[in-house]
This record gives sequence, C-alpha cells and structure tokens, in this order.
Amino acid sequence: NKAQAWSARFSEPVSDLVKRYTASVGFDQRLAHQDIQGSLAHAEMLAAVGVISNDDYAAIQKGMASIQEEIDAGRFQWSIDLEDVHLNIEKRLVELIGDAGKRLHTGRSRNDQVATDIRLWVRAEIDHALELLGRVRHALAGLALEHAATILPGFTHLQVAQPVTFGHHLLAYAEMFGRDAERLADCRKRVNRLPLGAAALAGTTFPIDRERVATTLGFDGVCRNSLDAVSDRDFAIEFCAAAALVMMHISRLSEELVLWMSPRVGFIDLADRFCTGSSIMPQKKNPDVPELARGKTGRVYGNLTALLTLMKGQPLAYNKDNQEDKEGLFDSADTVRDTLTIFADLIGGIRVRPEAMRQAALQGYATATDLADYLVRKGVPFRDAHETVARAVRACEEKRCDLADLALEELQGFHGAIEQDVYGFLTLEGSVAARDHIGGTAPARVRAEAERILAQTAAA
Ligand code: ARG
Repeated sequence: NKAQAWSARFSEPVSDLVKRYTASVGFDQRLAHQDIQGSLAHAEMLAAVGVISNDDYAAIQKGMASIQEEIDAGRFQWSIDLEDVHLNIEKRLVELIGDAGKRLHTGRSRNDQVATDIRLWVRAEIDHALELLGRVRHALAGLALEHAATILPGFTHLQVAQPVTFGHHLLAYAEMFGRDAERLADCRKRVNRLPLGAAALAGTTFPIDRERVATTLGFDGVCRNSLDAVSDRDFAIEFCAAAALVMMHISRLSEELVLWMSPRVGFIDLADRFCTGSSIMPQKKNPDVPELARGKTGRVYGNLTALLTLMKGQPLAYNKDNQEDKEGLFDSADTVRDTLTIFADLIGGIRVRPEAMRQAALQGYATATDLADYLVRKGVPFRDAHETVARAVRACEEKRCDLADLALEELQGFHGAIEQDVYGFLTLEGSVAARDHIGGTAPARVRAEAERILAQTAAA
C-alpha cells in the first residue's frame, strides 16, 4: 500500500489538506502539451545516445500520443494524489506501456522538466502576443491614416495645449505597442534556452546530449549552469514585466477612450459590441471594455510583484516556492492575450466625430504658440512674443472670442509686426501643417508614419 506516489520512503500519507496544499495539478495541467513535447525530445535523445532502446522510445511515442489524445478529448483522469502534471502523465504512461514508461525519467528530474515546460509555454505566449501587438498596431495605423488630417486639441495637464491630428495621437500608441513588441522579442531570447539536462540540480551521470534536445525543441541554446537552470525564474519575471507594460499602455489608451466617449467630450463612439447598458438607466451606453482593461492592469502588476517577491529569498537551487510561479504567470499571459485580441477589433470599430474634435480645438487658444512663433519669424525675441500673445489671449478671454476672430487692427494693437498673413497661422490647419518634421503632427508626416507601420505590420 503506497503512501505516496513517488516512493516507499514514506511511512504515513499526507493529510488531505496537505495534499491539496502541495498539489499543483489543478493549474499546471495547462502545461500538459509542453510536458509531453519535452518528454518526447528527452526520450528521443536517450535512445540516440543508447541509454534506452529504440523500442522503448517507440513505445513512449505511442503512449504519449494516446495520452495527448485523452487530454484533448477531456478523457484524461487528473488526480491530485499524483500532485502535478508531470507525475500524472508519467503514471498514465506506465499504465499504458509498462517498463518503457518507467525508463523515461532516466537522467531527468521534475525540476528541469518543469523549467523546460514553462519556457516552452512562455515562448508560445510571446509569439502569440507579438502577433496580437502587430494586429493592434495595424488597426491603430489604419485609423490614423483615415484621420491623418482630423484635428483635435492636444492636451497637457488635461488643458488644451496645441492642436494635433487624431492620426498623430493614435500613432503615439502604435509607438508604445511597438516598444512592447521589442521588449517581448528581446525577452524571448532569454526564455529560449533549454534547462533539461540539469536534472535535479547537479546534472546527470548519463551521457546525455543536451544540444540535441535543444534543437529538437527549437531552443537557441542550453542553460550553461545546472543550478541556475532549475532554480531561476527571471525569464518568467521578465515576461510578466513586459506584460505589465503592455497593460500600462492599454490602460492609458482605455482612459482616453472612456474620456473621449463621455457625452461631455463626445470625440468618439465605440461599437455597441464593446459596451453595455444599465439595468436601471435606459439611456446608458457604457464603455465597459476599456474600463475593465484599465482595471485588469492591476492584476497584471500584482502578478509581477508576486513573482519578484517569490524569487527574492530563494537559496540555490530548486525550492518548492517555485511552484507558485505559475498561476500569476498564466494570468498575466491570459489577460494580455484576451485584452489585445479585443483591442485589435475594438480600435477598428471606433467611430470618430471630427466636428466635436474641431469644436474643442477651437476653444482654449490652441494656436497661441503659433502666434508667438509667427512673431519670432518677424524678428521678435521669443520671450517678448510670448508676453505679447499672453496679452492677446487675455483680451480674447474678455471678448469671449478666439485669436483668429480678432480683426487685423486689433492684433496690430498688440504688436506692430503682425500682418495680414497671420491668419494662415492662427487656423488649426495651419498650425498642424507647420509641424512638418519627423515625429511632428503635420498630416503629411502622419500619413507617412501610418503607412510605414501598416507595411511593418502587414502580416498582422
Ligand atoms: N510541481 C513542481 C513545480 O511546479 C514541479 C517540480 C517539483 N519538484 C520537486 N522537487 N518537488 O515546481
């Protein structure tokens, strides 16, 4: 009568609570596919170096194929008596193929096994996230191209600052998500190293070929130190950090969408499929999706903090603490995946209200800096120009009009250098068109940037 799955060393079984407390199969069964992939690569190598026979390898292949089928069909019997995904699958393999199954774990430990599974899993998540970021950027650039010349107020301190084009505003987010993609691609390099072969912590006495396993599994190389290979989770932390930044950017965008959709602002409308109504107020259409995305950013930050904290006190090498790495990691990946998938669609469904944007840009003296720049070009020192325009703005405030509404004589009352051509600079169109350099808001520049990003994300 076996007290525990792994050995006869134990004289009494753990209590039900301890069993539940220590088991991870409830959540790590998500790694089943990677676990099988890793086992097959390990077995193939064991056969190639002659540690197991080719017949054993063939049996393992067959057994794993049925197990994968059982899992896919939802027929696999997961048991918390077998603690985790690794022991569950191995036990089933032995049931199916006998001794060959018992040979699979030669030269391997669950410690290097789980580290390998997680790396394979994170790698796939990164690839998916990169594709989704491409789709989000593509959607942003598409809308930006349509609205390269649509003008809205640009804000600092949430006060009207200078006119910008809506396309330019959208492309700011395309830049942020572009850096997120770079970060994930960089993180992937460090994720993509093979821990297998480290065994429990010190390596193994068998003549293993780690490079061979690495190639089979598509890793760029092997972890160079067995103690490090089984214990550190910095690659998962890096992924969670990159995920936190993705969500930070999503959250900023969400905040703006919510604000823009407020009837007080009315710059945009979101497609109905991203909004919900109220159970009491019949008139409501609430931007639930961006609000929820903003809210979910919190849990992704939390997962990062949890993982950093999980790692900080651990001596070498593997400690069971590491079993706690998975749920937060999975949650961050799930949240980013779902959020980006939804946003790729949501952005395409934004209905823009150019007239409301324009009206808002006409309030708040958005072209005041343009008037100052105009005076500078007429030879007035910038500080004096700044002062002159400040006085003009004050006069407008009293008259409740815009700078462009002042008659030429009135403007000349503020500075003699002002001529008829000033009106070309006081318009919103003149203001944005004049900012015509790389990174500027001029429609021509926005079009060029949008096209560059569209081409870059064409596959997306
Ligand atoms: N379920 C474990 C984890 O997630 C697998 C490794 C267990 N190794 C051990 N020596 N207890 O980390």
